[in-house]
Amino acid sequence: MSGHLWGVDYYPEHWPKERWAVDASMMREMGITVVRMAEFSWQKFEPREGEFHFEELDEAISVLAKEGIDCILGTPSAAPPAWIIERNPEIEPVDSADHVHHFGGRHHDCQSNPVYREHIRRYVTAFAEHYADNPHVIGWQVDNELGNSHGDLCYCPSCESRFRQWLREKYGTVEELNRCWGTAFWSQGYNSFEQVPAPRNTASGHNPSHQLDWKRFCSDLVCEFHQFQADILRAHAPGKFITHNMMGFANKVSYYDLGKQLEFASHDQYPGGHFHWNQRAFRADFHAAELDMIRAVKGQPYWVMEQQSGITGWEIVGAAPKPGQLALWAAQSIAHGADTIVFFRWRSCLMGTEQYWHGILPHSGIPGRYYRELRAFMEQTGPALRDMQGSMPQCEAAIIRSYDQEWAIDIQPHHPELRYINHLMTCYRALWNRNVPVDLIPEEADFSRYRLLIAPLMFLMKPGMADRLRAYAENGGTLIVTMRSGVKDEHDLALADGPLPCGLDDLCGAWVTEYDCLLQRENHVRWRDEEESVGCQCWCDLLETTTAETIAVYAGDFYAGTPAITKNRCGRGTVYYVGTQMGNELAERFMAEALTQSGVQGLLDTPFGVEAVCRGKDGRRWLFLLNHTGEAQTVEIPEEWQGDRGPLEPYGTRILTAR
Ligand code: GLA
Ligand code: ZN
Repeated sequence: MSGHLWGVDYYPEHWPKERWAVDASMMREMGITVVRMAEFSWQKFEPREGEFHFEELDEAISVLAKEGIDCILGTPSAAPPAWIIERNPEIEPVDSADHVHHFGGRHHDCQSNPVYREHIRRYVTAFAEHYADNPHVIGWQVDNELGNSHGDLCYCPSCESRFRQWLREKYGTVEELNRCWGTAFWSQGYNSFEQVPAPRNTASGHNPSHQLDWKRFCSDLVCEFHQFQADILRAHAPGKFITHNMMGFANKVSYYDLGKQLEFASHDQYPGGHFHWNQRAFRADFHAAELDMIRAVKGQPYWVMEQQSGITGWEIVGAAPKPGQLALWAAQSIAHGADTIVFFRWRSCLMGTEQYWHGILPHSGIPGRYYRELRAFMEQTGPALRDMQGSMPQCEAAIIRSYDQEWAIDIQPHHPELRYINHLMTCYRALWNRNVPVDLIPEEADFSRYRLLIAPLMFLMKPGMADRLRAYAENGGTLIVTMRSGVKDEHDLALADGPLPCGLDDLCGAWVTEYDCLLQRENHVRWRDEEESVGCQCWCDLLETTTAETIAVYAGDFYAGTPAITKNRCGRGTVYYVGTQMGNELAERFMAEALTQSGVQGLLDTPFGVEAVCRGKDGRRWLFLLNHTGEAQTVEIPEEWQGDRGPLEPYGTRILTAR
């Protein structure tokens, strides 16, 4: 894409000028050829309205350029300076409880506010014009991690009025909105769009249709906010790429939508955790899934714009990455399709909130273990990474990842522990454990490329979807549909056209007679004629088969012995219905069956926690073996692969090749 393999996020404004040349030469020595800068430096470059001072950034760019280092510049709209807030306090965002989020951190901005847009227009225009002809500025990042901190923002009057505008465009008449939102319930009917509020805190439960449209609106607003800046950049500085640093499964904005505006997608990868310090320790599968999703945003290789380079931490500090782990995590990013890795950050910061979010260099600037490990990794991996630019994992299996479904389940999760992504992960994990390459695709994607398609929690059945799934199966695909599918229409109103799963019951050869929410209990599922049963969670759809065969039954409760998982022939293909959320054991067993049925195979067998991923292009292939465990591991490597066949070290990484 750009020829760059390795980069760092760099903040020259945090360091004395005299240090810049030292940093640049140390970067070059390490193999770094690109930096991202300036995404939080508004006050520095425009200290007062219309007074632009890009001189120091110019200087930093030329110091870096002397060492052969290019840069990507960020627009600073994630941190408007105090002088803007002083003049226009109305741009501070408001949450659903009507609390204003004030200056003093970052993300204290309302993305729809027209006054704020004018401040952005002025800055971004000047910024783009200033760097349009600078050959060392190769690309842009708009804002930073759009959606970050904005989960419950913004409900200000400007956003509310934009929401009404969005509704007007979507529904045309308020009567149509009333119908689609089911406002007959609790006297919620509107006489005009002007009466429709942003869904702030209410005294009781909310209208799910209203909430769902709000989430869709918020996602569209973020995309439009990005487009606003991207248009200015493209108009005033053509010929440079625009990318954005996404956050895996974060769900404020649909990355599939945002991706349409980008030359390529980027992602921020912090496998060490920190914010979610109480989450389960083993998360390699989860990080793999996020990478598979980012790759699917454009269906092409991506960049990692922030790859963990040391301990992470703000107020709470994460665990030290074990020897090998920083390299292992970067290798995982590459294995799933990254062409360029930019490490966050070059050096640990001496000031502000992120003093403990460690860089390649420690606070002292004296190279330590992180530097040594990453430098060795870059030296060893660089030649292979250069060769594999543009190559992709070849996937015969796909999982639908739908923002709409996730939002609808978030609004009405049924069970307090039912989460869309966790549900999806029960399927993903079983494939990952077998090293089956997977794409995480949007609902609109072309399904026909895949032999196995998993459509988890298709709660909202949008027009045309049932037909597309049917066509997929009839043409020979193996389709997996899971619990709570075909329950609602696209507006989040319950469907009543037939039995559940609405529109899919024929396809599944089974229908849901009733259901049971597993509050504070588990149930179990027994596989065919076996004695032993394994756990399932959250929910049980009680099924009656028409044409399907039953391949597993519930083991407990009044519906013990009735179907839990069914299998139906459909044209040349097969459709499974899984009426529950599978525990890991059940998912393992079920996925083994579905893989055999579809003919999809894993790359090779590896011990638990050792991941195998393959990228390929033009008949060449690269096999990554990634040992996410703290013990040495032996993998039986098929003959076709060339390279070191010895045991993998704890947290070790290996790349083999084949033609
Ligand atoms: C995010 C942001 C960065 C920085 C790091 C570390 O990923 O994009 O600006 O804040 O986290 O906290
Ligand atoms: Zn707002």
